[in-house]
This record gives sequence, structure tokens and C-alpha cells, in this order.
Amino acid sequence: MNQKANIIAVAGKGGTGKTVIASLLLKFLTEKGLGRVLAIDADPATCLPSTLGVDVEKTIGDVREEMASPSQVFFSEHMPTDMLIEYKIEEIMINTPRFSVLAMGRSEGPGCYCLINDMLRHFIDKLSARFPTILIDCEAGLEHLSRRTTRDVDTMLVVSDPTKRGIDTASNIKNLAEKLQINFRHIYLVLNKVTEDKRVKGVLNEMVKNSGVELIGTVPEDENIRTFDLIGKPITELPEDSKAVVAVREIFERVS
Ligand SMILES: Nc1ncnc2c1ncn2[C@@H]1O[C@H](COP(=O)(O)OP(=O)(O)OP(=O)(O)O)[C@@H](O)[C@H]1O
Ligand SMILES: [Mg+2]
Repeated sequence: MNQKANIIAVAGKGGTGKTVIASLLLKFLTEKGLGRVLAIDADPATCLPSTLGVDVEKTIGDVREEMASPSQVFFSEHMPTDMLIEYKIEEIMINTPRFSVLAMGRSEGPGCYCLINDMLRHFIDKLSARFPTILIDCEAGLEHLSRRTTRDVDTMLVVSDPTKRGIDTASNIKNLAEKLQINFRHIYLVLNKVTEDKRVKGVLNEMVKNSGVELIGTVPEDENIRTFDLIGKPITELPEDSKAVVAVREIFERVS
């Protein structure tokens, strides 16, 4: 792979705050002015664009459907399939002044993701030459590892909520990556939605110690996030002094 881009991925159990944290990371990355960032929403549910305040009309899943439809045959005769796919991916990519967004979306029927993921992987490779930074909001769980969507990641942030299952998922991600011989340059745990409860903190500390994943920081429960999500306001517009913004900024500075 063309390793020009710095690839940061955010993974973890469902509902732990991956999309919120990815959105804040994007905000800090663009503010740092290191050039255009490509944000990839690899979650079939496509939530990242809305938390970034952009509208995505079509996903890579839609491109796959279009490619499979008979009306495309005529067009494809005049254009090699890979060129056509590339053209279509460029077409669905949303470009704002400081970042671009690509959504993987979902595809119809079972077992169809392999092709989409192959396409995405191929174009991440190609795109990495154009973007200094690529940020991936992964789908929940471990599937992205076995599909190798997150193969060449520099920094893997595994988000957990304060639950044993969340922390276990983080351990499982690290262990499965090792088993599949996927090398993350760095893999860190982020504990999100942490409250001030001392007893909970004690239990968490013990679990984190046993998880085998290095803790890079904790993010407090932030009522502003709930409010923003309630009304659908972009997470990137949270006030600078919002608790989670301050905490994720510290994490960002530690990993960059
Ligand atoms: N630090 C926080 N404080 C308060 N609420 C939070 C915090 N982080 C996330 N949330 C809330 O938790 C919920 C899940 O967050 P988010 O969508 O980012 O998780 P996710 O891991 O991306 O979920 P999914 O697995 O469905 O993609 C949202 O309702 C969000 O408002
Ligand atoms: Mg999400």
C-alpha cells in the first residue's frame, strides 16, 4: 500500500461513542491544518456525515448496486470496470473546504460486503496518495478485522464505555488483529462516558489493567453530547469547553 497517508481508525463495541470521538478527531485534524482529511464512514448505518454536519446522498453500497444493475452494462463497455468504479466513488465523495467524506453504506442481501470492501480497500490505497490523513469510523465489533478493512492502520483507537463487555471487545480486537497478523502501529483504549463514581472507577482500573490494551485517555459523560444528538446538531459544533471536547483534544494531542 502507498503509505503516504496517516490512517487513524476508531473501533469498539456498538454504542460506545466511536462516531462522537471520530467526529471530534476530525475537528482537531482539520484545525491543525495538516491538509485535507478523508473521513470514511465504514459503519453500514452511515451516521458520521450527520455528526460532521454534511449530507451524504450515496454510499459505496449504492455504487455496488448500480454496478450490478443491467443499465450500467452499456456504459461499462466504454470504460474499464475499475475506472468506472473510481469515477463513481469520486462522484459520491462529499468535499468540504477542509475534509472529504466517503460512506460505505450497506448492500442488499447477505454476503455482499466482500466486494464493497475489496473496492473500498483498493481505493483507500489509491486515495491515500491524495490525503495526508484518513480517519475511519469503523462498524461496531470485530468484523472489520476479518474483512481487513482496517489493515494498514497507523493508530487504532478502541473506544469502550464503562462496561466489562466494552473493555472485553477492546481486548478481542487487539487479540484478533494479532492472530490475523494485522499490524496496527499503535493501538490504544479510550474509555468514554466515564462518570465520577469512585467505586466504578476502581472496578474499571482493574479491568483496563487486565485488558492488555494501553489506555490513552478517558472521556467524561457529557450532557452537551446528549443534547446535540437529541436535536441532530453536528458534534463538531460542540463548545470548545465542553467536557468531552477538552478530553478528546488531550487524547488527540497524545496520539498526533
Ligand atoms: N462522552 C459522552 N457523553 C454523553 N453521551 C455520549 C458520549 N459519547 C457518546 N455519547 C452518546 O452515546 C450514544 C452512542 O454514541 P455514538 O453514536 O458515537 O456511538 P458508536 O460507537 O458510534 O455507535 P454505533 O456502534 O451505533 O456506531 C449517542 O447517543 C451519543 O450521544
Ligand atoms: Mg457509530
